[in-house]
Amino acid sequence: MKYDVECSACSYHSSNLLDFKCSSCGMPLDIQVHLDFETKRISKKDFSLWRYRRFFPYVRDGEIVRLGEGWTPLVRFSERVYFKLESLNPTGSFKDRGSALLVSALHKLVKKRRGYISEDSSGNAGASIAAYAARAGLRAKVYVPEAVAGPKFNQIQFYGADVVKVSGNRSKVAEEAQKPEPGKFYVGHILHPLFRDGIRSLAYEMSEQFGWKAPGCVYLPVSAGTLLLGVVSGFQHLVGSNVIESMPRIVACQTRQVSPLYHRMKNLSYTPLDTLASVADALVSVDPPLLELMVKNLKKVDGDAVIVEEEEILEAFRELAGRGFYVEPSSAVAYAGYKKQVKNKEVSVDSSAAIVLTGAGLKTATVRP
Ligand SMILES: Cc1ncc(COP(=O)(O)O)c(C=O)c1O
Ligand SMILES: [Zn+2]
Repeated sequence: MKYDVECSACSYHSSNLLDFKCSSCGMPLDIQVHLDFETKRISKKDFSLWRYRRFFPYVRDGEIVRLGEGWTPLVRFSERVYFKLESLNPTGSFKDRGSALLVSALHKLVKKRRGYISEDSSGNAGASIAAYAARAGLRAKVYVPEAVAGPKFNQIQFYGADVVKVSGNRSKVAEEAQKPEPGKFYVGHILHPLFRDGIRSLAYEMSEQFGWKAPGCVYLPVSAGTLLLGVVSGFQHLVGSNVIESMPRIVACQTRQVSPLYHRMKNLSYTPLDTLASVADALVSVDPPLLELMVKNLKKVDGDAVIVEEEEILEAFRELAGRGFYVEPSSAVAYAGYKKQVKNKEVSVDSSAAIVLTGAGLKTATVRP
């Protein structure tokens, strides 16, 4: 077998790509790929994330569902700073990497069982899963919080997903999405290992675009942790296969309001507010189910974490827009984290930095000019 579905906490193995948590201990599952990364195995004429399809062996060639995901531009912003424009993915965010892999791997299996997929999200992931399901001709049900509104919700509806509004907090929404129903296959992006695994492609792209070198550091906005875990796993694969020399310094950037990972990394206690009111409205996981895995993996690669204040996010957002990069405030969190570390001399200005701009500004509903 070229891959395994393994528990992140115990020795349980699964052979079922539809599983989303360990049936022995309930912890998150991980995909382990038993293939070295070899640059000669890249499909060089494919200018999408599928140029790396050989390293995602659970997707069959004829079953790829495409909307033009990946191979996003890496743009030089200043002497040492580069932006990876994930906002230019088909649905406007990096989530398309996860959805493309997940839906490509599962659509035939789900259709064969006359089923549909179920996801919980009011935001970018919901829109992304809905788009890929639409492309695959697969029914999708997206569970959203009752108060949902705005451009992302419109996107989910126009892609044709069934929308189920759930009252109560975010965990209640996830609970409803997971409730067994005839034909329902839960593929929630936070828990499903295939979604996270698709994000590996982002590390491959950045390394290739830097000429098979890792940048000195990589700044990422972090909420549920799928972006962080996927990027770490991709760089680890490249280092383990001797394609790049060493890991970049990975920096998880969080808002003060939603910063459980930062607090764990710095051994501080964290009590979230009762209600969130951040301009970074995509970063809402105050109690992320993948927290232990994030802490373990970020420590393993000697990564770091930083938190930013609301004013710092707004300043970074306005600076980016003022230079032509119109991204979501949640994406500006990564640039704000970089600026803060430069100011605090926690990063060398001689080191190259890749900042992942995760989502498009047109989705913004929290800031007015
Ligand atoms: C625009 C944007 N940036 C960053 C993130 C954080 O990603 P993750 O939840 O995988 O940590 C999200 C998640 O919703 C997002 O929508
Ligand atoms: Zn387990």
